[in-house]
Amino acid sequence: MPVFCFATSPLTHTLKALPFCLPMGLFLVFFLSLLSLASSASRDEQKTFIVRVQHEAKPSIFTNHKHCVFHGFAAKLSPTEALKLQTLSHVIAVIPEQSSTRVFGPSVKASTTVIWVLFLLNGKANALRQKISAPVSCNKKLIGAKYFCSGYEATNGKMNETSEFRSPRDSDGHGTHTASIAAGRYVFPASTLGYAKGVAAGMAPKARLAAYKVCWNAGCYDSDILAAFDSAVADGVDVISLSVGGAVVPYYLDAIAIGAFGAADKGIFVSASAGNGGPGGLTVTNVAPWMATIGAGTIDRDFPADVKLGNGKVVPGVGVYNGPGLSPGRMYPLVYAGSGGGDGYSSSLCLEGSLDPDFVKGKIILCDRGINSRAAKGDVVKKAGGVGMIIANGVFDGEGLVVDCHVLPATAVGTRLGVRPAPVVASFSARGPNPETPEILKPDVIAPGLNILAAWPDKVGPSGIQSDDRRTEFNILSGTSMACPHVSGLAALLKAAHPEWSPAAIKSALMTTAYTVDNRGETMIDESNGNTSTVFDFGSGHVHPTKALDPGLECGLPWGKRAGHIGNLNYPSFSAVFQQYGKHKMSTHFIRQVTNVGDPNSVYKVTVRPPSGTLVTVEPQQLVFRRVGQKLNFLVRVEAMAVKLAPGSSSMKSGTIVWSDGKHNVTSPIIVTMQQPL
Ligand SMILES: *[C@@H]1O[C@H](CO)[C@@H](O)[C@H](O)[C@H]1NC(C)=O
Ligand SMILES: *[C@@H]1O[C@H](CO)[C@@H](O)[C@H](O)[C@H]1NC(C)=O
Repeated sequence: MPVFCFATSPLTHTLKALPFCLPMGLFLVFFLSLLSLASSASRDEQKTFIVRVQHEAKPSIFTNHKHCVFHGFAAKLSPTEALKLQTLSHVIAVIPEQSSTRVFGPSVKASTTVIWVLFLLNGKANALRQKISAPVSCNKKLIGAKYFCSGYEATNGKMNETSEFRSPRDSDGHGTHTASIAAGRYVFPASTLGYAKGVAAGMAPKARLAAYKVCWNAGCYDSDILAAFDSAVADGVDVISLSVGGAVVPYYLDAIAIGAFGAADKGIFVSASAGNGGPGGLTVTNVAPWMATIGAGTIDRDFPADVKLGNGKVVPGVGVYNGPGLSPGRMYPLVYAGSGGGDGYSSSLCLEGSLDPDFVKGKIILCDRGINSRAAKGDVVKKAGGVGMIIANGVFDGEGLVVDCHVLPATAVGTRLGVRPAPVVASFSARGPNPETPEILKPDVIAPGLNILAAWPDKVGPSGIQSDDRRTEFNILSGTSMACPHVSGLAALLKAAHPEWSPAAIKSALMTTAYTVDNRGETMIDESNGNTSTVFDFGSGHVHPTKALDPGLECGLPWGKRAGHIGNLNYPSFSAVFQQYGKHKMSTHFIRQVTNVGDPNSVYKVTVRPPSGTLVTVEPQQLVFRRVGQKLNFLVRVEAMAVKLAPGSSSMKSGTIVWSDGKHNVTSPIIVTMQQPL
């Protein structure tokens, strides 16, 4: 039975990491002997499976591997062999390998290399630099870089090294961009193609970075992600930032959830992007309670590129381009790409090879969003002889306007909100409710994720298109991928200010101090429809860096599940889900424990704003602390009467519970969801 990435990897640390803390060869002998009977008969096709074993059942020679996030190994098995393994008593789970994608900007199909960023704080850097050696040149900022491709190559064969680097080097840009958002140092002047000039800095400019590259041209494989988690935990990182995501599956089959659990258990804060599947409901991913799930909001900066029509009307748009422009004052013919004959569908989207040069030449072309990237559409138009491009939002894009660096004069148009309040929830930001565990509100928070300027590697042009030979040190991208590292950097700052804080404490501080109002003082609106947004869009709200440093109380325990229902996980938000079986009254309760991290002598009083139609009581109504670190419990009781709902439908109402000592407001959303059975 072949074992992947045992002989193929040139790096010893990769070898160690792959079997998830077990020297693979030896351990496989142990399992192979068990399997040999089963496998000899089966000739069915082999695939990669991740095998999770009981820690105690590992042979004693493996027990000195302390920094595991996962006990087990990955191997190529036939389905028959996998089934056979599953019957063994010391095997907990046999998980078929899945691939995830980097969570990139909206309507860009995830495809290429991500660097997966972990970063560290000053104090430990020297020790870590000794441990992390890699065939790339590290410096005082980037103190480590590793790559994980064994799972990828086991499924896809050896990678094509002309289109991607079989090394930690970034051939895509996504990883460089996200890494610099988290921990880029101050740079001046920073701009892309002359736009967004100014001083740029990451959230934690003095943090150190270690990069763990797990994504490749054909995706990011579970076994590589798990191996990277193991490696990062062993390296001693403080924060893991993961702008990667896949489909929502049960936690025990979810490599990111499993890896993140192991990391959180070792005191490492893990933040992950919520996904770009918005604005529809139930689209949020990376929803495990032990991760911080980050949605995207906008910032109050714009890149206007308006269109003036022949009738004098001006259509507002956004875009970035610095090449030779259209002749000032001259009007050009405007045509819809889909009306140029041929296959109207692919030409409407300006897909590669779909445009007729005779139709396009010398004109400005209107292309629909979707399938290929917005910048790639510009390349298609340019190659066919077009002089400019306008990108129109489809029905499902909401009205969000996303900036790209284009290879020709181009703009994305849509309805701009009258006043531009900030922040607003970005259209593409993935939304709750949590599809896996509705009793845990997700996303947790939002952070800036629209039109973010950050670093860019020299291998790729700013449009991301292969033929784009422009080079720029910065680029503007959008996505929850960009929101996530804002929170990761912030977590590093909180960890530096409060080294004793657990990952749960950091998350609690981020959530209980988040704000839900915009710069007009009203509840943030949803970019996709201009409506007031809800907790399903922004979770606890938009992160507030300075308030998070001093949250007053902390609500968050290590991840051991407490007695009772899942809602009693000591989570900094409350979500009650009622199944309506009649007209009767329904009730539930939550128990929470808070720790005083503010002033030694402080008295917190509770203010409840109940979800409409519900009764919420909190006991006690006052928490009297006499020292820092003191823990006190409170109980929240929720009562609601059944409401009229169509079979299979549900309704959600939200409110807040605020503990205040006059100096700190410790705020938690409370939501009540009624579900009418079919
Ligand atoms: C949100 O906006 C849409 C379109 O403007 C409208 O049809 C819908 O009723 C609004 N929804 C809510 C909940 O206000
Ligand atoms: C706490 O909230 C109340 C009510 O919204 C507000 O008046 C007060 O200024 C807030 N205090 C702090 C310290 O943020």
